[in-house]
Amino acid sequence: MANWSPNSWRDKPILQQPEYPDSTKLSAVESELNSAPPLVFAEETRSLYKSLADVCEGKAFILQGGDCAESFSDFSAANIRDTFKTLLQMAVVLTYGGKCPVVKIARMAGQYAKPRSADFETIDGVSLPSYRGDIVNSFEFTEDARIPDPDRLMKAYHQSAATLNLLRAFAQGGLADLHQVNRWNMSFVAANPLKDKFQQLAERIQEALEFMEVCGIDSTVAPSLKETPLYTSHEALLLGYEEALTRRDHLSGDWYDCSAHFVWIGERTRQLDHAHIEFFRGIKNPIGVKVGPGMQEDELIQLVDALNPDNIPGRLTLITRMGADVLPEKLPKLVRRIQQEGRKVIWTSDPMHGNTEKSTTGYKTRSFNNILREISQFFAVHKSEGSYPGGVHLEMTGQHVTECVGGAYGLSDEDLSQRYRTQCDPRLNADQVLELGFLVADLLKDARKAR
Ligand code: TRP
Ligand code: MN
Repeated sequence: MANWSPNSWRDKPILQQPEYPDSTKLSAVESELNSAPPLVFAEETRSLYKSLADVCEGKAFILQGGDCAESFSDFSAANIRDTFKTLLQMAVVLTYGGKCPVVKIARMAGQYAKPRSADFETIDGVSLPSYRGDIVNSFEFTEDARIPDPDRLMKAYHQSAATLNLLRAFAQGGLADLHQVNRWNMSFVAANPLKDKFQQLAERIQEALEFMEVCGIDSTVAPSLKETPLYTSHEALLLGYEEALTRRDHLSGDWYDCSAHFVWIGERTRQLDHAHIEFFRGIKNPIGVKVGPGMQEDELIQLVDALNPDNIPGRLTLITRMGADVLPEKLPKLVRRIQQEGRKVIWTSDPMHGNTEKSTTGYKTRSFNNILREISQFFAVHKSEGSYPGGVHLEMTGQHVTECVGGAYGLSDEDLSQRYRTQCDPRLNADQVLELGFLVADLLKDARKAR
């Protein structure tokens, strides 16, 4: 790659970076990170790339999900396990119901940095630097807490390593075994009818496994029954951190950002001549870019060509986050243009970020209805344009939270205060994820029949 190096982004304009008061300390931490072991290996990233090439051809579907932002305080085995199980539960519903392989990408083990709409936050006349995620500063509203601290980069790295370690153990060490499908149900609503629906699905899978076993096909001959590839992802916002974890792969000579398998560029940092595009164009990971309702067709083609000049399937995922009301107006022309120009991209839907609102009780929330509406319209647009709806990108947790309103249990504005735990955006809880899983499975089945 001409004129590119892991630090060539440093010559470009850049947005959304913290201002560290102590730049000597920052450099020291970055060089310590640079000599620390990578979090993921290039070979794993290449196998994700291959799976994404399948998605690009309409042969698989992406389920990407996790917290809006991971935090240092919510770091526990139970938390990681429950989000993992919730992902698996939705994945198996999609695999079975949609009759389609599902590529599982956790928004975990590195999702710490947050872009903010304002540099300062004002409460009762006091203005302090905005909270930018636990990798930068602390959520607490005090002057000290809001000072960006380079030590947090190291802490995020170690916490990511520990999270990844557990995820790998779960994915390969038994918890992801299809024989365990009963254990993935995280529903906390006793009377949830979808619990029964999931139970029935679990029984059908058990029966199929028993039948195959009688025929001589079990986990010893087909190990894929007892494990699943699980990949990690985050918004690669803090380029100093990402650069430090970018390594040259000895086999291919290519550069990989080894902080995660998949990284994406946010809607706020995707300016063509800016640092994030520069950094991303040189790494060999499969990458994503968020696409909001303001995106123009020409701009999109330029962006796609900057990030995937060789038009390789699987390299680039466009994560659309439009909002349920505007998607039908904005998405079709973008899809049409990409089709006309023959660009190979994966389209996925982030139905969360365009549907954030303030509840009557003052909480930042999202309604289940709008989330579902955006996903349904996403499928409808791809159906009419003859393109493939390649996946969904969700903010979700396995914890029993009340952050998004609606769903079968009709969480209301008044219910939000019960367990509103997020430090950032409102997440779907396990019941809402399960409900969405069944609904998306139907859409997926229909989309695949049409092909
Ligand atoms: N290995 C297959 C897959 O990942 C089957 C599988 C094993 C699976 N465990 C799973 C599918 C958990 C969904 C969820 O698709
Ligand atoms: Mn978010």
